Amino acid sequence: MSDLDVAPAATALRGSLTVPGDKSIAHRALLFASLASGQTRIAGLPNGHDVRSTRRCLEALGVAISDANNDIVVDGRSGALTQPSAAIDCGNSGTTMRLLSGILAARDLEVTLDGDESLRKRPMRRVATPLSEMGATVDLAEGLHAPIRIRGTSRLQGFDYELPVNSAQVKGALIFAALGANGTTTLRGALRSRDHSERMLPAFGGTITAGDGRLEIEGGQHLRAMPETLRIPGDLSSAAYWIAAATIVPNSRIEIAGVGLNPTRLGFIDVLRRMGAAITLRDHGFSAEPIGTIVAEYAPLRATVVEGDEVPDLVDELPLLAIVASFAEGTTRVRGAEELRYKESDRIEAIVRGGRAIGMQIEPYIDGFSVTGPASLHGGAVDAMRDHRIAMAFAIAGLGTPAPIAISGADSVAISYPEFFSTLDSLRG
Ligand code: S3P
Repeated sequence: MSDLDVAPAATALRGSLTVPGDKSIAHRALLFASLASGQTRIAGLPNGHDVRSTRRCLEALGVAISDANNDIVVDGRSGALTQPSAAIDCGNSGTTMRLLSGILAARDLEVTLDGDESLRKRPMRRVATPLSEMGATVDLAEGLHAPIRIRGTSRLQGFDYELPVNSAQVKGALIFAALGANGTTTLRGALRSRDHSERMLPAFGGTITAGDGRLEIEGGQHLRAMPETLRIPGDLSSAAYWIAAATIVPNSRIEIAGVGLNPTRLGFIDVLRRMGAAITLRDHGFSAEPIGTIVAEYAPLRATVVEGDEVPDLVDELPLLAIVASFAEGTTRVRGAEELRYKESDRIEAIVRGGRAIGMQIEPYIDGFSVTGPASLHGGAVDAMRDHRIAMAFAIAGLGTPAPIAISGADSVAISYPEFFSTLDSLRG
């Protein structure tokens, strides 16, 4: 695992930049395009390992995906995937594994989905249980984890299901399963999570009905390739690091163009503004997903509380929020975020351990953390626990500490943002 030192920002960070395409949208674009009939051209697909995992898995299931200048072209298979010869490797990507599980549940194939050490620890019953209820046979290692063996069936049955946890991966898996099932599927309960699947389905000719706290999907839908190029907006979860950097380094101003501004992803911006951050959004338009420019400038911050329904809107940004909270006056509390323990690492443990090593005043809760600021940060050595978002959060901390932070496992940024450190260098001028 490589170590990387992040030195303090000697001067203000100023500049304009773009970020890689949205990872969540990219997974779904590849999946919907593969299931549709006809060819879909996708622009702005990010280069991170997670999205490559989805591409590789689809290729193993018989989908032809080719590079065309900077775009890719997916040859849709009208729903007919082929039996792979071996287990399929989802790498580090929970989204790949869970969404594919939903697709495979409705196909007459027997497929094993596996992943790396981190993915093999993540909870998979949350998809296995409902997919089994629909009629698929799903076996998990120790009844809990990957490798997942799925024996799907074209006789999958639509059902009525109450989601127990706000998770776009579970919701998305069930939407994909429902599309290939017989009859209607109604989803209720914990539906508050990013809605990229719901927004993208109509662009491929599908239908989903939302309202009254539920989603309804008719089975047996036939999807068609998008006639125009599907353009993936920049990833707000990647932009968040530069928003944080501009906010904590005095006199900074960073402009990020072409970013997806889907309301289900704006939690980090809402919370930072509540803390006093100077962030402006300029909308540029709207297709299935709103897109715009973000300008973030340095500002003094005060503490806040994040809990309940707000959590899913910034779940991936909470480790970064812990760093930002160290620069705010007062004690920031995050509760109701136990999901952080089931991400690529236990992100509560990772941020508390690393945070204390650099002088943060941070206390864990079972379902969150509290951070008191402004803290006298002092640099030091932290372990990213092979988790891209932990590595990037501590890199941003390194800009605001008086001494460098050595990050072990910094190469994990390649999961979502391979260009992260070169963009950081360019911002330092
Ligand atoms: C994602 C959903 C979220 C998020 C992950 C991407 C998605 O996970 O943390 O990075 O693309 O559906 P959960 O569905 O587990 O909340």
